[in-house]
Amino acid sequence: MTSPTNAQAVSEAQAYRAQLLYFRDTPKAEDEACEWVRDGLLVVRDGHITHCGGYDQLIGQLPTGTAVHDWRGHLITPGFIDTHIHYPQTDMIASPAPGLLPWLETYTFPTERRFEDPAYAQDVAQFFLDELMRCGTTTAMVYCTVHPGSAQAFFEESHARNLRMIAGKVMMDRNCPDYLRDTAESGARDSEMLLRRWHGTGRQLYALTPRFAPTSTPEQLGRCRELAQAYPDVFIQSHVAENRDEVKWVMDLFPGHRSYLDIYDRYGLLRPRAVYGHCVWLDDDDRRRLRDSGAVAAHCPTSNQFLGSGLFDHAAAQDFGTPVTLATDVGGGSSFSMLQTMNEAHKVARLSGHHLTARRMFWQATQGAAKHLGLTGQIGTLEAGAEADFIVLNPTATPLLARRTARTESLEELLFAFAMLGDDRAVAATYAAGREVHRRA
Ligand code: GUN
Ligand code: ZN
Repeated sequence: MTSPTNAQAVSEAQAYRAQLLYFRDTPKAEDEACEWVRDGLLVVRDGHITHCGGYDQLIGQLPTGTAVHDWRGHLITPGFIDTHIHYPQTDMIASPAPGLLPWLETYTFPTERRFEDPAYAQDVAQFFLDELMRCGTTTAMVYCTVHPGSAQAFFEESHARNLRMIAGKVMMDRNCPDYLRDTAESGARDSEMLLRRWHGTGRQLYALTPRFAPTSTPEQLGRCRELAQAYPDVFIQSHVAENRDEVKWVMDLFPGHRSYLDIYDRYGLLRPRAVYGHCVWLDDDDRRRLRDSGAVAAHCPTSNQFLGSGLFDHAAAQDFGTPVTLATDVGGGSSFSMLQTMNEAHKVARLSGHHLTARRMFWQATQGAAKHLGLTGQIGTLEAGAEADFIVLNPTATPLLARRTARTESLEELLFAFAMLGDDRAVAATYAAGREVHRRA
């Protein structure tokens, strides 16, 4: 058995021995769909998983010459999926402000202005993707800026690394500084050009990205609807009902709508593959409408707490069957780590008397997200046939994690320890399409 190595020939089969954890694609609750193989083997070839099972069953079937990488003592899971993050906000993470709207004006818009420079965009895209890999996030839904070049730079970098990323140029034609404004016409034209260039190129996918209702005229939302209809398999991403002041403002800007979410509904932007960040100030009709339309909520707990936006109501989302995924929302979010995001999601749920299990959070961050994004079987799983995006978690990454995980008595306790105590340090390695893209020193 060899030790893991950086110099892998991706076209040759590679096998990884470790504990394995993933969720099967079944209609069952995630608890029943959970597969935990204590001494497992994951076999990868040509960027895809070919086998996943017990070491004893599979070791005899490997093609001769297959390298077996020994990750015993570690836990392999599918790479995490972060369903809402802003790459241009990398350099302004942890900027203090009294709430969302002043934060946007003081820090966000001036920082996003810098993306008129493609060299700066490329530099940030490189750092951003490195940071995602360090945290074990192999797929993210990414906001770029209003500049088409920001999306171009991001896709070029992601494509060069063969990562499965979803991204889009922000559309905003009002209520923002002139230097960040497009028009209904130019926003639609540039978005269409980018989606034709990148949606389905290699592993890249496009998301129509009206920033949020206040920064789009009705005309721009109408153009967005036309694009959504013309390209039914592209993604859509926006923000909704994040902050009370924002909700008030939106209702003044769009009179005659039942709710903030209803605006997106009337413009044909609620549908499968549409992901709405925050969803804090929804009512039950909105939750039902999200569910019935096939659209998805991206819960951003570190951001909602950092900006004081409010507490996402997990219990209500569960009662109404609203699809929920987890997201960092960097730079409103204060961490790139999906483990830290789980930590905060758990606490937010606890505050409303709801118990969010670690198993459910791992499901939400992997198989659940893939399912809600219409990418089942492609990402978010270790099942044979899937793209080989997986991570190696180290239960002894820190002295405290080591001490706690030495005493865990169930899978739930182990996953819970990772979620509460883990961060980028717990990610020993990250693989994308079978290639090692991060190894912790
Ligand atoms: N609403 C509109 N734009 C943004 C943004 O960049 N971050 C957050 N958290 N909310 C927004
Ligand atoms: Zn956001």
